Amino acid sequence: MSASTQPWLDAGKPIEERVAGLLSAMTREEKVAQMVQISYSIITPERADEWARLGVGSVLHCLGDDARRIQRLATGNRLGIPVLFGIDAIHGHGIHNGATVFPTQLALAASWNPANAERMAAVTAKEVAAEGLHWTFSPVLCLGRDPRWGRVDETFGEDPYLSGKMGAATVRGYQGESPASSDRIVACAKHYIAYGESTGGRDSYDSAVSMRMVRDVFLPPFEEAVKAGVHTVMAGYEPVDRVPCSAHRELLRDVLKGELGFKGFVVTDWMNVLSLHTRHKMAANLEEASRIALEAGNDMIMTTPEFYESTLALLARGEVAESQIDEAVTRILNIKFLAGLFDNPDKVKTLPLSEDPAAKDAEAVYNCEAHRKENLEIARECLVLLKNGTVGGSPALPIAGQKPATAEGGASAGRRVRRIAVIGPNADSVRAQFGDWTFFTHPTPHYDAVPTFRVDTMLDGLKKLAGERGVGVIYEKGCDATDPSVQWIAKARKAAKKADAVFVFVGDTLPQTGEAHDRANLELTGMQNELVEALSADCRKRGVPLVSVLVNGKPLEFGRVAEASDAVVETFNSGTHGGIAAAEAIFGAFNPSGRLPISFPRTTGQIPVYYNQIPGWHEGKYHDCDRTPLFAFGEGLSYTEFRYDSVSLSKDAARAGETVLVNVTLTNAGDREGTETVQVYAADLLASIVTPVKELKAFARVTVPAGATVTVGVPLPTDSLSLVGIDGRRVLEPGEFAILAGHDSRDQSLLSARLTVTAG
Ligand code: NOJ
Repeated sequence: MSASTQPWLDAGKPIEERVAGLLSAMTREEKVAQMVQISYSIITPERADEWARLGVGSVLHCLGDDARRIQRLATGNRLGIPVLFGIDAIHGHGIHNGATVFPTQLALAASWNPANAERMAAVTAKEVAAEGLHWTFSPVLCLGRDPRWGRVDETFGEDPYLSGKMGAATVRGYQGESPASSDRIVACAKHYIAYGESTGGRDSYDSAVSMRMVRDVFLPPFEEAVKAGVHTVMAGYEPVDRVPCSAHRELLRDVLKGELGFKGFVVTDWMNVLSLHTRHKMAANLEEASRIALEAGNDMIMTTPEFYESTLALLARGEVAESQIDEAVTRILNIKFLAGLFDNPDKVKTLPLSEDPAAKDAEAVYNCEAHRKENLEIARECLVLLKNGTVGGSPALPIAGQKPATAEGGASAGRRVRRIAVIGPNADSVRAQFGDWTFFTHPTPHYDAVPTFRVDTMLDGLKKLAGERGVGVIYEKGCDATDPSVQWIAKARKAAKKADAVFVFVGDTLPQTGEAHDRANLELTGMQNELVEALSADCRKRGVPLVSVLVNGKPLEFGRVAEASDAVVETFNSGTHGGIAAAEAIFGAFNPSGRLPISFPRTTGQIPVYYNQIPGWHEGKYHDCDRTPLFAFGEGLSYTEFRYDSVSLSKDAARAGETVLVNVTLTNAGDREGTETVQVYAADLLASIVTPVKELKAFARVTVPAGATVTVGVPLPTDSLSLVGIDGRRVLEPGEFAILAGHDSRDQSLLSARLTVTAG
């Protein structure tokens, strides 16, 4: 085949022309097949091969030689259109056992550093591309406002602004300048939209939010992703205000493709079209479901292969217009061209691995040294120190060994210890440390899988660093993470009594987090609270510190743990190097700088507890629970102390389109260099609708030497103070705003200045 017989192969022509040329050569069957995405995980290889011969548009969850065989068949067809392979590379290409596993999105968001998201995504893109795959279903831009929901670990937390910044950076990391490059891939912003609001935290249930709320709260992160050039968007499972996302014409056609000007394609989530018939009962049969999905603006249909026959039947009867199919296929082909599938031979892997001379190089990319280094650097910034009390007159953390640290320039100040006890069900658990979306869980759960690469659990990390510093380590599991009948608390107490500092690792484990793993009760399971409290009683008697290290997908009820511990470190699901990063923080080799991207409830019944709620009567307190969360959005300590001296604005009044500098002066009042995240919130003092008590509008990370005072100018565009009014339009209302800057979202942590937004 050549560019003369197939003019769309001429790379010199504009993509638009090439797409149009190819489309005009396609039969109806070939077009509709391009709209179909099948999953290799729920189909026999023979059936998958038939689909490839039929010219299927996309295949997901297919790796290695299977993908190469499918691609060989597809490119051998009459028109030779390559398959676009999709994969859930959510925090690394984790489904491939051997690839880099990064901290989850929630953990990444705790770094409040979009550069980390970009680096994570760039590395992931390399590893996914090395496999011959082209497209990841990431980033997740749903907000994690209900921690009962199983997928909170996949979000960037509860705040639209932080999610938008992290999400846009992730898109840039995956796609780079162009996803046609051999080491870049196509990103997918999901799940459009308000999926995290599913009623009761039950995955995929109705999101009872209005379109005004959608525009005001849930759309902004998607707008950021579209601005960053994201090439695909996935429609959520759930109904929004009773209309399923894949049937929601206003959301897909009017808002996304119309107002936001999204030029890529929309893929449905898993069986969304089938669900219109079977679950949502909006369609009497598959044909009707297919018609609704087409009219609403879905372009690619994930795992409802019946869409193919149904749509061909609808076309034959003239019940859907061929122009509608053409529009969807144009969008899909456009992305295939943009992703280099027609021009870059690296993108179309057809040789069996054993015959491909390039396969060895590709293999060397997975979790290579450079990627491990990046992973560790990122993991360090994701840790959040939530509490650091004093024991015997000095802070519980960091600890120092008998000899000075050798590696990585670790500082040495800290509590001297000779022996530490490492206790708890999550101290030595790769599964708990990885969290969802790795080869343990997907495409089907294989909890017994064995990693083919080195993973440093929390215990491994502490052993390594302790060894280098002449510190002994005793390990006891103490209890099971979930089963209350399995515990060794007495043994753990005995071991702990031999140590100068005790570290207990608690949280959740795989089946307690992830898709369709929602929880009605976020209390710690097994005997974890009892374990921590027993250790605490002993430690307090002996005057040695008890440090709790949290290894968990999402906020849980950590009140009893926090109360019983002298220090608390949150690691979330920290990936392959989480254990090293945590150990380094514990030994003070770096100064922790993470901040919570999500509020932690005191008790499950207090949910929702996100910070940016609207004010109500009676201060929002329960008879039996404090008004405040256990840990608030933005909280996080370090081994130094920051004092906020003043906040002022570069001008007191500004109009739409202008940017004001929020000048924040702060002092590192401690004796160690540290990195502070200056957070800027705004409160609208008079508005046409009720507005949140405060909303994050900007942030800046700044490293301040010990004893130094710095002034940071944080840009605040006045347009970020806009709201979506009752008429559903975004507007910047003139008036007064309190601009609040400080260490975290709590009132007591914020200094205030006044800005007047003037008309015009
Ligand atoms: C369903 C999930 O909701 C979505 O996030 C994922 O990308 C697809 N399945 C494909 O695995």
